[in-house]
Amino acid sequence: QGTMQVNAQGRLTIGGCDVVELAREFGTPLYIFDEECIRNNCREFYRAFGVKEGLARVIYAGKAFLTTAMCRIIASEGLGLDVVSGGELYTALAAGFPVENIYFHGNNKSYAELCQALEAGIGRFVVDNFAELELLSRLSTERGQVARIILRVTPGIEAHTHDYIRTGQIDSKFGFTLPNGQALEAARRVKDLPGIEFKGLHCHIGSQIFELEPYSQAVAVMLELAAAIKEATGLLTSELDLGGGFGIYYTAEDHPRPVSAYAETILARVREEARALNLPQPLVIVEPGRAIIGPAGSTAYTVGTVKEIPGVRKYVAVDGGMADNIRPALYGANYEAILANKANLPAAETVAITGKCCESGDMLIWEADLPRVEAGDILVISCTGAYGYTMASNYNRLGRPAAVLVREGNADLILKREDYNDLLRNDVVPARLVCTR
Ligand code: LLP
Repeated sequence: QGTMQVNAQGRLTIGGCDVVELAREFGTPLYIFDEECIRNNCREFYRAFGVKEGLARVIYAGKAFLTTAMCRIIASEGLGLDVVSGGELYTALAAGFPVENIYFHGNNKSYAELCQALEAGIGRFVVDNFAELELLSRLSTERGQVARIILRVTPGIEAHTHDYIRTGQIDSKFGFTLPNGQALEAARRVKDLPGIEFKGLHCHIGSQIFELEPYSQAVAVMLELAAAIKEATGLLTSELDLGGGFGIYYTAEDHPRPVSAYAETILARVREEARALNLPQPLVIVEPGRAIIGPAGSTAYTVGTVKEIPGVRKYVAVDGGMADNIRPALYGANYEAILANKANLPAAETVAITGKCCESGDMLIWEADLPRVEAGDILVISCTGAYGYTMASNYNRLGRPAAVLVREGNADLILKREDYNDLLRNDVVPARLVCTR
């Protein structure tokens, strides 16, 4: 993946940096982000969807991984940003991200968050429900502003992915339901409300999707809705946001399609359906998160205890685990591992990679084929860039790991490691709880 290679010492390098040396310099666990890979992924989407030609806009979904440095990379590649909270918005603003390219998502945006976004003058509000519609209209009118909105719709499309990351089905907490007429009703409401300007429609059918068909289907269903909205209200859908969800490689079982396949399918269907329904062709918007940052990130750990249960399994424990990567425990997600200091050796055994958290479910990989593993080895799990750091916790009072950005042999720190003081930062001790020692 990305710019991973093996150097003359038989060690793994990422972005030209020797991972064993990175581990020595920055400590482990360490998230390593390959800048060239991030930029290449951005450019692939930009090119494939015809951003320069004015066919589409690509909005990076910040929930996958967001820091100030990441915002700068995304902005410099000409992508917009999808934020889902005041915290993500605050990060983007602190990074100087162009506000007009920020899209604000979320099914329960607070009063304070809506005010923050109006104050900043962000590009689009992706409105999820009636309460938000009313509140946003009132707030923007009070401020003498006009909020540009996109309506989030649940189209009733099933894509094959894990239950927790399916979002397109009708029984969902997200968006206005299409099949029961809620979406059309929302458009009618938009027409009557002051302080908001209708720009278009949004749907997101799920995550880690490998099929093209659900996207094509979504286009058809959404444009039919656009036609119904035009008919009922006269409102024109000038933007069609199809969300993210483009699947990536984690293990040999995953067969991702090139971005161009998604782009061609989506753009062609938009062209056809718009023509058939006699609608002006809308600007397509896509919101990839995982596909931009997933393959660009890896996590380096140091191997600690190795426990063999003869005839059963060999457990290899690393110095992180579910606190820095909850995905295997939460979704049964699979990953591949490499020993950075033995990257030129063939696999010699099958081991289970476990973390150091006090929980049996704290497994990273159940079956990893590796050269003989010993304490002190640097074990790298690849493709951890998306939903790794952003879903990390302080479970067992582990500090969150550091992250470095590597490129052409240089490594820059982009997230500091949390130390013990960070863990105590928010603790408050009532004076009556005296220390009894
Ligand atoms: N747009 C919307 C409205 C979304 O809800 C999401 C993801 C995305 C875009 C980006 O999806 P992506 O391209 O990254 O698949 N924590 C889970 C994934 C949750 C995705 C939630 N929404 C995981 O680790 O697999």
